[in-house]
Amino acid sequence: IKKIGVMTSGGDAPGMNAAIRSVARTCAFHNIECVGIYRGYEGMIEGDFKELTARNVKGLINKGGTVLKSARSSEFRTKEGREKAYNALIAKGIDGLVTIGGDGTFTGALIFNQEYGFPVMGIPGTIDNDIFGTSHTLGYDTALNTVVECIDKIRDTASSHNRLFFVEVMGRDVGHIALNVGIGAGAEEILIPEEDLGLDRLVESLRRSKKSGKSSSIVVVAEGDKIGKNVFELKDYVDENMKDYEVRVSVLGHMQRGGSPSCFDRVLASRMGVKAVESLMEGQSNYMVGLLSDKIVLTPLEKAVKGKSKINKELIRVSDIMTT
Ligand code: F6P
Repeated sequence: IKKIGVMTSGGDAPGMNAAIRSVARTCAFHNIECVGIYRGYEGMIEGDFKELTARNVKGLINKGGTVLKSARSSEFRTKEGREKAYNALIAKGIDGLVTIGGDGTFTGALIFNQEYGFPVMGIPGTIDNDIFGTSHTLGYDTALNTVVECIDKIRDTASSHNRLFFVEVMGRDVGHIALNVGIGAGAEEILIPEEDLGLDRLVESLRRSKKSGKSSSIVVVAEGDKIGKNVFELKDYVDENMKDYEVRVSVLGHMQRGGSPSCFDRVLASRMGVKAVESLMEGQSNYMVGLLSDKIVLTPLEKAVKGKSKINKELIRVSDIMTT
């Protein structure tokens, strides 16, 4: 391996910049050239590249977002698009690729590898934590901390006005963010796609907590939860069935994806970057770097894409006990 390309793709996540920095510095450490690819597969097709050195990645460790930008490319889904991308990489002398992103990013990398035998390594970067083969994806820990801080603030105003708040959090189809922040911020109920509480049981549970002396409540709702059509419909239902509560909705939205990465994400990004580059140097390809039991391990990309990240049942039990 002489020249490694690094790119970010899909939804951005805090820690992506720290991972770019780590890949560039690990390359420099081993006297390998490093090239940043802008706008994910889109920039790869167009040959939108920039040399990365140990020095020009300075100041990145604490920056949110991704300086390489991110995009979801439809052209890369076509054979012609991938051929253009391959030609651009070869013309630049790039002979290994580190892709930082989620499911879609890895699927693209896999197809690319199958078609051209191009050496690829994946680093999981998404706030959703929905990737098999790692206990933590980059950005997840930061997002948890951001959301907990927001809910703490919402609780201040909820309790001042004796209100019930539905707080919708991100997570796409999974409830990792919701379950963890729900416990961390002391929510009264946590609604996640993996568990179906049902509207009636939700109302029943809120009535019970009101009876037990609670004057305000926070219900954390994962965006992928199926209990209502959406969080606003949920509010209407509870409004109708619990006249004694004033109900409000807060959808946290994209602020959950921003901000300076937590120390955990910075360290994880640094570790994953080192492993990705050194694995390519050892001739490994088609793997995702992950964290399992505090060890940096490799999982075949195919498994990472096909496998399901499971919700931690123990956390569900803890949350049940904490909300009594
Ligand atoms: O995958 C990260 C994520 O933020 C999800 O939590 C959310 O469902 C989605 O991306 C939002 O995508 P977009 O930024 O395209 O609206």
